[in-house]
Amino acid sequence: MNKNLVFYIVLSVCIVVSFGFTCFYFMKALNYTVTVTAEQAKLSHDYHFVLIGQEFDNPYHKKVLEGAQTAAKEHDVLLEFIGPKQTNIDEHTKLIEMAIAARVDGILTQGLTNREFKPVIDKAISKGIPVITIDTDLEDSRRVAYVGTNNYEAGKQMGEALAEATNGEAKVAIVTGILYANNLMERVQGFLDVIENYPDIEVVAMESSNISQIQAAEKTYQMLRNHPEVTAFFGTSALDGIGIAQAVTKANLQEDILIFAFDDLEETMELVEQEKIFATLKQEPYEMGYQGVSLLVQTMKGQPIPKINYTSLEVLYKKRVGEIDE
Ligand code: BGC
Repeated sequence: MNKNLVFYIVLSVCIVVSFGFTCFYFMKALNYTVTVTAEQAKLSHDYHFVLIGQEFDNPYHKKVLEGAQTAAKEHDVLLEFIGPKQTNIDEHTKLIEMAIAARVDGILTQGLTNREFKPVIDKAISKGIPVITIDTDLEDSRRVAYVGTNNYEAGKQMGEALAEATNGEAKVAIVTGILYANNLMERVQGFLDVIENYPDIEVVAMESSNISQIQAAEKTYQMLRNHPEVTAFFGTSALDGIGIAQAVTKANLQEDILIFAFDDLEETMELVEQEKIFATLKQEPYEMGYQGVSLLVQTMKGQPIPKINYTSLEVLYKKRVGEIDE
């Protein structure tokens, strides 16, 4: 066979194979799995919903999924769960676009940022697909309803917990998941609005962890280095408190620094038990998923639903203030 021909055949095969791998890993990285068509879904279930989480493997979003699955079983809903591997606004909004293209019956998603999420949520609504925001609301959008924490109130409760525990005197560093996520901005704002009333509480630094435990630990090391005066940390998303505790323990400062965290993941509760995290704000992710699916079903049936559905909040401690060792 002509040498040139062999060369071109081998080259073409290589290109096709490498293109195939690129596509495969690209899809895998995004967890693009809206796999069921509207027609297939109709054959087996009453409704087809998609739940889009900020991160596919994040333990907090797994709890939302568990609640959503329970409600899906009760209402004969085919529920798909998708999400970026690591938090990424573009990928997240693309997943909403994909759910719209797949003509699902309803979408559950966070409304993380106004600029990027509003157009795509409004697009779903204009195509007749109801969207319920969970965990993070987007009031400005045409979403049907919100289910989740009152995040401003949650931030205020953590501000009050810190003020009480420190007797109104602290140098605080904040590790916040994402600087521009609506829910986390509201938490920080609620926190700041409370501590503003305490002249001897000062926030000396704030960094983003990209909702990653490793980055939360890294940012904590940095802040401890740059601000040795810090006496308290506030972590605003589920893995921040764990990362902060890791860094503070490694620096052997657990006796000198109080940590305020978010959520009651197993590891967080172990750290509360060991008194490495002083207090954590318990949200209800399971309930968010459960109610989210149930309310979407009601919407599909034409039943009216409340626009705002706040889930409960509780500050959990190992020791309450007053029991703290001097
Ligand atoms: C927040 C979620 C976030 C998660 C990250 C939770 O506290 O409510 O919005 O995705 O933390 O781990």
